[in-house]
Amino acid sequence: MSTDSLLSLVRPEILALTPYSSARKESSGGHVWLDANENPTTPSASLPSEALAKEGALNRYPEPQPAELVARLASLYGVTPDRVLVTRGSDEGIDLLLRAFCRAGQDAILTTPPTYGMYAVAAGIQGARTLTAPLVRERNFAVDSDRVIAAALAAPKPGAGGVKLVFLCSPNNPTGQSLDRDAVLRVVEALSGRAVIVVDEAYAEFSSAPSLVAELGAQANLVVLRTLSKAFGLAGARVGVTLAAPELIGVLQKIIAPYPVPTPVAHAALEALTPDAIAAARRSAHEIVGERQRVATALAGLPVVRHVWPSDANFLLIEVADSARLMAAARGAGLVLRDRSKDVPNTVRITIGTRAENDFVLEVLARE
Ligand SMILES: Cc1ncc(COP(=O)(O)O)c(C=O)c1O
Repeated sequence: MSTDSLLSLVRPEILALTPYSSARKESSGGHVWLDANENPTTPSASLPSEALAKEGALNRYPEPQPAELVARLASLYGVTPDRVLVTRGSDEGIDLLLRAFCRAGQDAILTTPPTYGMYAVAAGIQGARTLTAPLVRERNFAVDSDRVIAAALAAPKPGAGGVKLVFLCSPNNPTGQSLDRDAVLRVVEALSGRAVIVVDEAYAEFSSAPSLVAELGAQANLVVLRTLSKAFGLAGARVGVTLAAPELIGVLQKIIAPYPVPTPVAHAALEALTPDAIAAARRSAHEIVGERQRVATALAGLPVVRHVWPSDANFLLIEVADSARLMAAARGAGLVLRDRSKDVPNTVRITIGTRAENDFVLEVLARE
């Protein structure tokens, strides 16, 4: 797919839009900054951290896309910086894609349930329909690429209100498995010129499957979502990353809020992306994977557990006879799990925690 045909899928009003031009975008150089109606100081005595207080940074609007952070993320994922957009969590990336591509009341997205709920919610907010091509439960929730392609092509063509975005989550939440790479690429190729395929790799660091990021150069209609919320342990900082063709990053930059990366967040992210911190995140992911294996084996031996699905993520999905009963017992013990029964009957999703937390899970479930 050429970038021209990629851009032809974008809402025409967004292509025509003159974006807001913030003071920080327009300014360059100078040492007396009186262009953005900021306060010359931060009067509050208690700033969040010494580093920020020293820099006096909080009285200033941040860089819209902090260059150093963009550069480190580009190097982390092995892409050029013009393919990177930093967002408030990858949830914001999902929302921006919906707003860029889907016209309210006309266009649609396609999801593969059971999957992450925010795709359909973001579509609902935008007034876009959600079509589905379910994962195949009998094959450990594998993606059926023929079904995805047929469902996307069965809908009316773009312009007449067709499927503009296909969301594929790999490893998939809540089921845990990575989607087959060839199957995903078949979808990308078959829908070239027709739809953009968004591969959500929020849990990629816990999987040995290679990232689809390497395919971005060859496939203009491929977008990959990553996040620092999981393997980097920064869920509270809200740092998501949209990786895409530079032309599409340019479109998303037109509609993103003027200053989406708060200064303290950029600091936290930069600290998480030093070579030492990246190595620590890799070690931590490795330990979580080890714990995942230990917990999966132990869970499979408990009478209350009917099935444990194999997982490439930092959680396990289990099937029990009565998920409501299990959730109540867990709650009674002070253990908070996630009932996923509305996705897959009688299932509960368990995040892998510390070794002690995981032992507690096993202890509580063993009592059932
Ligand atoms: C598949 C998937 N994508 C995206 C997100 C959102 O992540 P973020 O914290 O980056 O917004 C989650 C959060 O649980 C998720 O499971």
